[in-house]
Amino acid sequence: MRVGFIGTGSMGSILIEAFIRSGALNPEQVVATNRTLSKVERLAEHIPGLQVARSNKEAAEGSDLLFLCIKPLEFKEVIEDIRPVVTGEQLVISITSPVLLRHLEEQLPCKIAKIIPSITNYVLSGAALCIYGNRTMPEDEVLLENLLSHIGSPIRVSEQYTRISSDLSSCGPAFLAYFIQKYAEAAVNATGISEEEATLLASEMTLGTGKLLTTGGFTPATLQKRVAVPGGITAEGLRIMEKELGGVFYDLIRTTHAKYDEDVEKVEARFFGTQVD
Ligand SMILES: NC(=O)c1ccc[n+]([C@@H]2O[C@H](COP(=O)([O-])OP(=O)(O)OC[C@H]3O[C@@H](n4cnc5c(N)ncnc54)[C@H](OP(=O)(O)O)[C@@H]3O)[C@@H](O)[C@H]2O)c1
Repeated sequence: MRVGFIGTGSMGSILIEAFIRSGALNPEQVVATNRTLSKVERLAEHIPGLQVARSNKEAAEGSDLLFLCIKPLEFKEVIEDIRPVVTGEQLVISITSPVLLRHLEEQLPCKIAKIIPSITNYVLSGAALCIYGNRTMPEDEVLLENLLSHIGSPIRVSEQYTRISSDLSSCGPAFLAYFIQKYAEAAVNATGISEEEATLLASEMTLGTGKLLTTGGFTPATLQKRVAVPGGITAEGLRIMEKELGGVFYDLIRTTHAKYDEDVEKVEARFFGTQVD
């Protein structure tokens, strides 16, 4: 199997490295290209055997799977480059939420899937969301999910829930990192504990909490109940969090969805020349 990558920026390079490090793919199976070729050449220096394609067309030709790791407004150009060489047997996989499956199915003759990876896939952990177009067969879906299972947990979602699922699994690491940073900063300022120690304690706590919630048999509610005994210190802390943070998540979701709607409109304007206000 040959697997192509167009775009070796942040996410493209994370996926390539994770697939190879996990043993899912040999470097010789991977062909990658990037608009600025020096970027993919640098990646190939670190990953002996990785093949560099000099153009998007060259990366697309003969790849069984082709990952498009580019930003939404970069799609039109890449699609135009690869359209002449893509065949019905190939599976093209977009990693970006605002480019809809129907955008790609209208533009390309091949099978189409979307995955939304997460930076957590770099450490072979976390979810990798999978959404399929109308042309994929069950065996294509099994193939893709087997590959993804080496770098995380493939989870199927419907396109309707792509944005909210991506908020949780792909934006989530940044949101949680913000929480940890603020908590550690306050700990340092209020008590004088070192930043390294506070960050380490909060990070280890996050890892353990993730395990309790995925394989430890707890739900968020039962975990809080178990830790926060009535009248105790944790219960007092939770009371403050509910008071200060209770409404923030609705604002967060409203904001990310508004940005997503704006991006979908821009993509449609770019693909189909529709008006954007
Ligand atoms: N970052 C995350 O955690 C995450 C998670 C899930 C999904 N995503 C999605 O992944 C997508 C890519 O994000 P990113 O953070 O990897 O962006 P990025 O770092 O900007 O990478 C995009 C890469 O695509 C290359 N590129 C642009 N136009 C091209 C073209 N015409 N032909 C070939 N290569 C081209 C760019 O090349 P240059 O070097 O010339 O700029 C750049 O290296 C985004 O849509 C994002 O929503 C990101």
